[in-house]
Amino acid sequence: MNIETIQKKSGIVGRSEAIQQVLEMVAQVSPVDISILITGESGTGKEIIAKAIHQNSKRSHQSMITVNCGAIPEGIIESELFGHVKGAYTDARGDRKGYFESADNSTIFLDEIGETPLETQVKLLRVIESGEFIPVGGSKAKKTDVRILAATNKDLAGLVSKGLFRQDLYYRLNTVSIPLPPLNDRLEDISLLVERFALEFTRSNDMPYRGFMPEAIRSMKNFRWKGNIRELKNFVESIIVLEKGERITSQMVEQQLGLKSDEFSKNDALPVITNQPSDSAERELILRQLFLLRQDVEFLKKLASPSQSPIENLPPPLLDRSSGVDSNNLHINEDSEYFIKNSSIGDMTIEDLEKEAIIRTLKFYSNNRRASAKSLGMSERTLYRKINQYGLEKKIKNQ
Ligand SMILES: Nc1ncnc2c1ncn2[C@@H]1O[C@H](COP(=O)(O)OP(=O)(O)OP(=O)(O)O)[C@@H](O)[C@H]1O
Ligand SMILES: [Mg+2]
Repeated sequence: MNIETIQKKSGIVGRSEAIQQVLEMVAQVSPVDISILITGESGTGKEIIAKAIHQNSKRSHQSMITVNCGAIPEGIIESELFGHVKGAYTDARGDRKGYFESADNSTIFLDEIGETPLETQVKLLRVIESGEFIPVGGSKAKKTDVRILAATNKDLAGLVSKGLFRQDLYYRLNTVSIPLPPLNDRLEDISLLVERFALEFTRSNDMPYRGFMPEAIRSMKNFRWKGNIRELKNFVESIIVLEKGERITSQMVEQQLGLKSDEFSKNDALPVITNQPSDSAERELILRQLFLLRQDVEFLKKLASPSQSPIENLPPPLLDRSSGVDSNNLHINEDSEYFIKNSSIGDMTIEDLEKEAIIRTLKFYSNNRRASAKSLGMSERTLYRKINQYGLEKKIKNQ
C-alpha cells in the first residue's frame, strides 16, 4: 500500500519529511507479522500509528485490541491479559478470557508498555516468543496467534539499565522500532493539522468556521508544543470555541498561548516588552542567559577556526536588538572578558567546551533540537551526532 492511501485511510496528516519517513516504515512493516515498538513523546501519535499498522496488515478484518498497561492495577493485570480459571480468586465464578485469547488472529496493542510490572513482563515475553500463556490459576498453557504492537513514551533502555524493564523483553520488542518525532521537529505540518482539526471539530459540532490567518499559523509555529499533536488539537478546538467561530488572528493565538510563546520563542525576535514588572525581570534574566550563551558559542566557533583570535571580534549579539533592556547591564568588563577560568586552563579540551555548550543550549531551548542546532550554528544532523558522541541522550531526557 502506498503512503497516500495509508494517510487517507488512517487520517494521519503531514507532509514533513519526518512524518513521511514514519509512514514509509508503516507501509513496510504493516504486512509483515513482526512486533513493533512505537516510541515518542506524549501526544505524538503513537496510537494512531498503531491503528494504521493494524489497518494495513492482513489481520485488519479483525479488530485490534488495545491494552493500556499503565492503567490496569497491578493486582489484576495478569488476569486481564491472560484470563483466569474458575476459582482463581474468591469471586472468580467461571473461566474468563483474557485479551491475548480474545485477540487470537488479530493484533494486540500494548500501550504504555514501560508501565508493565516486572513479573508480568516475563509472561509477556513468553507469549510473544511462543504464543503460549497460562491463565491465572490454571495449569495448562493455551495458544494464541497474536501480532504485538507496543508503545511507550518512556526511555525503555534507561528503564532496562535501572532494572525496571527486562532486557530480554526490550530486545524482543525493539527489533523494529518506529520513533515518532515531536511536533516541533515537523513544524511545517502545523498548518495541515490545524486545518484538519478545525474542520473536523466545526463540522461535528455544527459550528461556523472562518479559518486561521496565515500569521496565526506562524505564531503557532513559534510555540513549544510539549503536549505535541494532542495539545495542538485541544488548542485549535478551544480557540474556535472561545472566539465563537471568528477568523482566528495571530493576536488571538498569542493571547491564548500566553507568555509561554515568549519564553519558548524560537525565532530571533526577542520577547515583547509588556508593562508588568515581573515580566521584565524574567525577561532580563532570559536575555542575560541568551547573551552569555551566544558568547560561549561564538567563542567555540573562534576556537574552531584557528586563524582568528577567540576573544577578538566578539559579536554584539542582542544588544542592539534588546530594546527596553539597559545595555549597560550586558556590558562585559575587562575582568570577565575570558570565559574560561584560569584554573581550568591546562585541564580542559575543546570537546569539554563543546559538550557544555550543547548541553546548555539544549536546556535553554527545552531540548528543541532544531532551535538548538540553529543557535549553535550546526546542522541538526551534526547536533544529533554529537548528542550520541557525548552520550547526552540520557542527560537530556532527565532534565
Ligand atoms: N499526524 C497526525 N495527523 C492527524 N492527527 C494526529 C496525528 N498525530 C496525532 N494525531 C491526533 O493527535 C491525538 C494524539 O495522538 P495519539 O493518541 O495517537 O498520541 P500518543 O502518542 O498515543 O499520546 P500518549 O503518549 O499521550 O498516549 C489524537 O487525537 C490523534 O488522532
Ligand atoms: Mg497513546
